[in-house]
Amino acid sequence: MKNKLLWRLWAIIGLGTVVLFLAIDWLTNHTETSMSFIADNHQQTLLNYGKQAEHIYLTQGEDALAEYIKHIQLQEQTWAGVVTSKITPFADSELVPLFTDYFQLGRGVEWKIHLYFAQNPIMEVPFVDDATHLLIQLPQRMRPGAFLMMFRLLLQIALPLILLCLLTYVVYQHVMRPLKRLEKATQEFSDGKLDARVTPLLPKRHDELTDIAATFDKMADRTSNLIQNQRQLLADLSHELRTPLARIDMAVDFVEQNLNQAQALERLRYEASTMRSLVEDTLTFSWLSTELPSLNTETFDLVELINVICDDAKFEYPHNMLHCELPEQAMIENSSQVALGQAIENVIRNALRYTPPEKAVSVHLKKLHNTYTLTISDNGPGVPDALCDDIFKPFFRVEKSRTATKMRGEGEAAAHSQKNHGHGMGLALAQRQVHAVGGEISAHNRIDDTAGLTIAIALPINATSTTLASV
Ligand SMILES: Nc1ncnc2c1ncn2[C@@H]1O[C@H](COP(=O)(O)OP(=O)(O)OP(=O)(O)O)[C@@H](O)[C@H]1O
Ligand SMILES: [Mg+2]
Repeated sequence: MKNKLLWRLWAIIGLGTVVLFLAIDWLTNHTETSMSFIADNHQQTLLNYGKQAEHIYLTQGEDALAEYIKHIQLQEQTWAGVVTSKITPFADSELVPLFTDYFQLGRGVEWKIHLYFAQNPIMEVPFVDDATHLLIQLPQRMRPGAFLMMFRLLLQIALPLILLCLLTYVVYQHVMRPLKRLEKATQEFSDGKLDARVTPLLPKRHDELTDIAATFDKMADRTSNLIQNQRQLLADLSHELRTPLARIDMAVDFVEQNLNQAQALERLRYEASTMRSLVEDTLTFSWLSTELPSLNTETFDLVELINVICDDAKFEYPHNMLHCELPEQAMIENSSQVALGQAIENVIRNALRYTPPEKAVSVHLKKLHNTYTLTISDNGPGVPDALCDDIFKPFFRVEKSRTATKMRGEGEAAAHSQKNHGHGMGLALAQRQVHAVGGEISAHNRIDDTAGLTIAIALPINATSTTLASV
């Protein structure tokens, strides 16, 4: 559902407000009603006055009763009296039980008292004969509802205030809980805890705030990957630089001791250029990985580009056979000639480097729908299947572990071997370059009888309308 949080807030606030009004209304009515009756002990006192008055009248006569009434008036500071209610119908009228049974001169002691009347009501306690009645204006001390005003203030001001504060707190907590977790994760992340994430802390929520949490997690994933990759890249680069630096030290020693000067100078020049290309490749790789640029400004003929690369390669590897199977023309739009050129060149050079001189490398380009597929297959040793993805990692070389141990400390032999093997940056760069023009690159060992590696590069004919790579 869209705008889940909005709906939830509407539900909480809407329902909360209705419940608040209902609660206040019910409490006010309930409290008022329960406060409108004379307290039990006062009811009993009034009934006792009636009984006593009746007893005095029956045993001691009217004068004694008059004295007693005065006594009540004085004691309760109110008016009291005894009256008879002999109702005589005339003009052929008849008294019905409905009238005689319920006839009363004042209010019964157990009746509800209206709290808003200024005057206290007249209460009635009938004698046994039902025709004589003790009447007494309700003494002020017995008037119920003394705390009504206070309760009304409490119910109509304090209670809504408290309930609204509670409601606001519920809404605040509902909104702030994920925000606090987001803040905590952001703080932890900025303190260097790169695995800090928010979504796992909000497993049962699915609303706009969890969307923000998911966006944060996505950003954290990408940033932490970038940081870790950059750290790894830096560590690998410094490791790779150690060998040429050691050789430069050695060559400088030779020059200082006037030993093999010409060879030492050549070594110095070679190592300097190795270091330069190593640093340049690493910087380009780092740029392509962090910026994820879209290199899509040029339109050119792919066949022309491949031909130029193949001509150069044939010149560099004159003893290898390079078979090219290309169409007349393959125009590619919104791409980058430099990026693609470097990527294809590296793949073809790898293929030639690993293929024995008497065997061939084939380059094949075909068009399918809106994609060009370029395959470069060689007759070299191939790559262990499990490492087919790893060869696209920076500084990864299949033979690295094997030769690294052998090469260490072997001086010239090591230098020669290094000359024949690269730094393991070529395919890593090629992958980022192909991604930057919207393509995809993959490696697999040949499945026909011949051994060797096949690198397949898929390129959209128009990189802005189609993107094959999920960078
Ligand atoms: N055609 C191939 N046949 C066998 N192994 C290959 C082939 N192409 C690449 N590899 C393996 O993949 C590794 C990585 O290749 P990549 O092109 O990235 O680096 P490199 O050629 O060693 O050095 P660089 O390209 O930086 O000069 C190589 O070291 C090699 O082990
Ligand atoms: Mg290479």
